[in-house]
Formats: sequence, C-alpha cells, structure tokens
Amino acid sequence: MTTTLVTGIGELTTMDPEHPDAEDALGTLHDAALVMGADDQVLWVGRSGVPDADRRVDVDGRAVIPAFVDSHTHLVFAGDRSAEFAARMSGVAYDGGGITSTVQATRDAPDDELRDLLRGRLEEMRAQGTGVVEVKSGYGLDLASETRLLRLAREVTDEVTFLGGHVVPPEYRSRRGDYVDLVTGPMLTEARAYARWIDVFCEPHSPYAFTADEGRTILLAGRDAGLGLRVHGNQLGPGPGVRLAVELGAASVDHCTYLTGQDVDALAAGTTVATLLPGVEFSTRHPYPDARALLDAGVTVALATDCNPGTSYTSSMPFVIALAVRELRLTPQEALWAATRGAAASLARNDIGRIAVGARGGVTVVDAPSHRHLAYRAGVPLARRLSTVT
Ligand code: NIG
Ligand code: FE
Repeated sequence: MTTTLVTGIGELTTMDPEHPDAEDALGTLHDAALVMGADDQVLWVGRSGVPDADRRVDVDGRAVIPAFVDSHTHLVFAGDRSAEFAARMSGVAYDGGGITSTVQATRDAPDDELRDLLRGRLEEMRAQGTGVVEVKSGYGLDLASETRLLRLAREVTDEVTFLGGHVVPPEYRSRRGDYVDLVTGPMLTEARAYARWIDVFCEPHSPYAFTADEGRTILLAGRDAGLGLRVHGNQLGPGPGVRLAVELGAASVDHCTYLTGQDVDALAAGTTVATLLPGVEFSTRHPYPDARALLDAGVTVALATDCNPGTSYTSSMPFVIALAVRELRLTPQEALWAATRGAAASLARNDIGRIAVGARGGVTVVDAPSHRHLAYRAGVPLARRLSTVT
C-alpha cells in the first residue's frame, strides 16, 4: 500500500478532541503531520515522532481540515434552469414546479451523458475540498428512470438516497395515491439494490410535493425495506416535515428554513440532525434559517450544498460555510464542524469528517494559515481535497 506523509501543517483541525496534542474542542494541532494510506485511511496524526512513508507532501504552513462531507445533493440530472433562477431574482417565487423540466431533460438524456454530468459535478466538488458526497435520485420519477439514476449514483458513492418522493410527476397529478403506491411498491423494490437512504419532499407549500400523510407512508415503507430516513422539510413555509422526521427517528431533516419553537423543541428532544442548506436561501430569496436557535437548543446541525439545478446550483462547501458564518451567524468553528462532523452525523457515519487514526473521509488543504479563511476570504478557491493517488 502506498502511504503519504503530509508535513508542514500549520494548523491541523482534526475534529478529534481526544487526540493527546489537541488544543481545543475541534482537536486543533499546530505544526503537525499526518500519514494516510492510498485508500484515504488515516494511519497516523501527531506533532512529534513522525513516521516515514512512501511519498511526502509538504504543505508549507497551510491549514489542513477533514474533507467536507456534502450530505445532501441531487447530482444526477440533465438540463439547465438558469432562466428560472434569473426570473426568481426578479421576484418570481419558487414552488417546485420547475422540477418537472429537469425530470424531462433527465429522462431524455442517455446514460453516458448523465454519467459525465455526474462525474463532472463530483470533480468540481473535490476541487473545492469535498470528500464523501450523498447523492439522491428524484429526477426520474418513473420506475426505469429512478432505477437508472440510483444505479449511476451508486457508481460514485455508497451514500445513495432514493427520492422517488420528490414531486408527483405530471402524469400522476390527478391520481396522487397511485404515484405513492408506485414509490412504495415497484420503485422501492428496485431502489433497495442501490440506496442506503429514502427521502421525501414533505411540503404543503408546494402543490407538487407530498403531504405529511403521504410522506409518512413513503418513509415507513422505506424503513420496512431497510433504508434509513431523511426528509426535505420546512423549506417553503412552516409545516409538518420536521416533526414527521423526528417522530420517525429520521437521521436528518434538511432545509429547516421555517421553524416554530415547537419544531426546535422537537429536534432538541430527538436524535434527528438538522441539515441547513443556505445555498437554497441564497438562490430563492427565502429568509435564512434560524441556526442560532437550533445550536442554542443543543440540536446537531449539519451544512450541505443541496447541489441541484433548481434551488441551489452550487457545488461549493466553502461557499456554504461563508453563508453560514455571514448569514446564519455560525462561528467559523461551528460552520466547519457542521460541514464535516455534523454532516457525517447526518449520515450516521463516524469514520468520515474527522482526521483520526482509522478515519477514511479524506483530507483537505486550505491555502491559508487557518480554516477561518474559508469564510473570511469568501469566493476565493482556497480549499482542495488532497489526492493520495500519485
Ligand atoms: O432540495 N425541495 C426540493 N428539492 C430540491 C429542489 C429541486 C429542484 O428545484 O430541482 C431542494 O431544494
Ligand atoms: Fe434537496
């Protein structure tokens, strides 16, 4: 196995406060080094007694952090909705209706085109410091198309989410129950071969999305099929998504843009991670979520891009971190934690989002003396995932 020794790390944020040299709750070490195996597994972390390795990389005083975990993306799609974005910037509201145009373009695209688009977006993410990526289906919405998207997603990640319950496709709008039957029946049967998770867009403020009852039906079927649960909730207005997610013990409820005090209390009493996606508020002109209320209540918060052609076509976790610091009032430390450990928690993973012996999510070099520069120097391409492949 080829091993890589990374030396000259000015500030190493391990997210492992148990490390004997850790200086704070983020497990910060100064003037540190680490060794990784070819499979990104961390073999050694420390300040002295540095072991040898097959290959050496000197990062010359730069900061090193765990590779970002992007725990919410919709990367398998074709088509373009920049005109919809432009209209929204001029005041047109988002209601989920544009999803249909992406479904059409995606159904029409051949496998090779979708695969190239997916891999191109992933490469964009890696070039901005991201390691593990969750990928949802949801732009197929018929049996063959959803299965195809799941199959393509599974080629690039273990964190595949079945989102047949994204919206009700046009051909089923007058018979929604039949579509829920399709999702919970034949689609779910196919999805089990590829997906680890099931998700549903539970949103009473969109006529295309699913009600709480429909969402519960879809999630319970997924749970029975052995899938973990995730929910798109409280995105366009107050609603039942958050409480449904907590009630069913979902791993994550994502968006959380419109929260009541009861929603925050429910999250604080449960185990569901609140995943915030501020690229969506940026791109839809909705207000940013009240992240401080969540953090102050002790809720585990994650950050992700929600990379998708409608509400957030960014692949950049550093951009999301900058928004979280500036607009959601997270400290730079809280934002980095949410983009690594928080996102890992939302995927029920302990082996990613940190730099400790045995972890395997990859590491990212920040071309700056501290991770704080990610938000401080917003828009500057500072973060890059370290490749351990020569
Ligand atoms: O997470 N809200 C539902 N789904 C996506 C948007 C999908 C789209 O508009 O294409 C989201 O925001
Ligand atoms: Fe989403």
